[in-house]
Amino acid sequence: MSVALDDFVYDPFAPEVMSNPLPFYEVLRDRFPVYYAEKYDTFFLSRFQDAWDFLSLADNMFVTNEGSVFTQAAVLRHNTEAPQDKPTTPFGSHLNYGSPVYELVRQAHGRQLRPGNVRKLEPFIRSLVRRRLDQLIPAGRFDLVHEFAGIISASTICHLFHIPVEDAGEVLDTINVLTRTDNDEPGFKDVQEHQVKLIEFIRPRVATRRADGPDGSWPLVDGMLEFRLDGRELTDVEIAANLTCVLVGGTETLPKVVGHGLWELNRRPDQLAEVRSDLAANSAAAAEEMNRFCGPAQWFGRTAREPVTIAGQSVRPGQRVAYLTQSANRDPREFENPNRFQWNRSIPRTLAFGRGQHFCVGIHLARLEERIILEEFLGRVTGYEIDEDAAVRHPSSFQWGYSHLPVTITSTALPGD
Ligand code: HEM
Repeated sequence: MSVALDDFVYDPFAPEVMSNPLPFYEVLRDRFPVYYAEKYDTFFLSRFQDAWDFLSLADNMFVTNEGSVFTQAAVLRHNTEAPQDKPTTPFGSHLNYGSPVYELVRQAHGRQLRPGNVRKLEPFIRSLVRRRLDQLIPAGRFDLVHEFAGIISASTICHLFHIPVEDAGEVLDTINVLTRTDNDEPGFKDVQEHQVKLIEFIRPRVATRRADGPDGSWPLVDGMLEFRLDGRELTDVEIAANLTCVLVGGTETLPKVVGHGLWELNRRPDQLAEVRSDLAANSAAAAEEMNRFCGPAQWFGRTAREPVTIAGQSVRPGQRVAYLTQSANRDPREFENPNRFQWNRSIPRTLAFGRGQHFCVGIHLARLEERIILEEFLGRVTGYEIDEDAAVRHPSSFQWGYSHLPVTITSTALPGD
């Protein structure tokens, strides 16, 4: 698909962009690296270096009071001044507060996701993946994204939240409906209802832990119970609402990355053979290329709090700036031959997990899960075919990734292979 250059318009909510934004990114990078969308009073950064520099700015020059994923209705409303700080009672999601509140809450629960604690999850995740493959492989055909990787990421997150892993399917379905942006039909999704549902997966566990007495052994929740904001404890609902970002972030992206990545590998038998030749040594590198090439999130935005210059462009307080993650990931100024999937390419710098203040808190868990999934799937499944005609990639202004990839298993390793 090629994009008309005369009167070029980039609108992340336009149907043609939602169904395939990649050709638009090429034009943006080459001709309009800092694209101003007047309709939304928002600047879009498409080059890797500009996004990198933008995310390196001091905390609080830009804020996420309006969120980092904007709806079209939100950006159609133009700000005339910098967004106001929100009151902390009642306390909403810390993602919408500036420094230092944001960092204090992130530190309060983030210990659970630091490398040392994440490493301890390896035996649990490996046995989860093996059991899931035991269940799925005999059927011969299943959905790589939803039934396999999706259940793994949702079950891992359930485990972190002490939610029974039997509920993983319901957690996954709730999140998938909430993050879809392609269907505005009345009744398709009631955002509030789904958000309440997510909070209710967590709130009862927080209440029980509070009653039992936190002892620090469950950092995700204990850290939040011990945290004091302006000298007060957070309520169970406030804690649960703040932790839904981990529930969502930890569930939604990874399956789309791994499912799509396994498809890309299978399309390139020589690369697949190279990865297989030493799975323990090669899986982490292959996963990193999947994070670059297959990431579904298209952009994240911020709102300016001060006058600032971004890539030579003056930005007023209240105006928004968004970095186009998948455009940066395919910028030829950063990556040689960027539209080629190359499992062992050199990736000295990555924006696949963001950068700076809002850098992905789940990066270590994501990399661990990806590595284990690749090792176990490719170690066990020696032949597979993706049903390309049945692949589903909903048009989306935000999460443009494969949500269903049916796979047929054509051969498996014999025990002891
Ligand atoms: C392959 C998997 C993943 C990818 C590609 C990914 C990517 C990202 C990116 C690009 C951001 C930055 C957003 C921004 O700049 O505003 C982000 C933020 C975040 N991620 Fe991830 N992520 C992944 C997995 C996870 C996992 C496993 C978790 C949790 C266990 C997680 C939790 C979060 C949270 C809570 C944020 C918000 C941080 C903030 O705004 O302060 N992510 N992720």
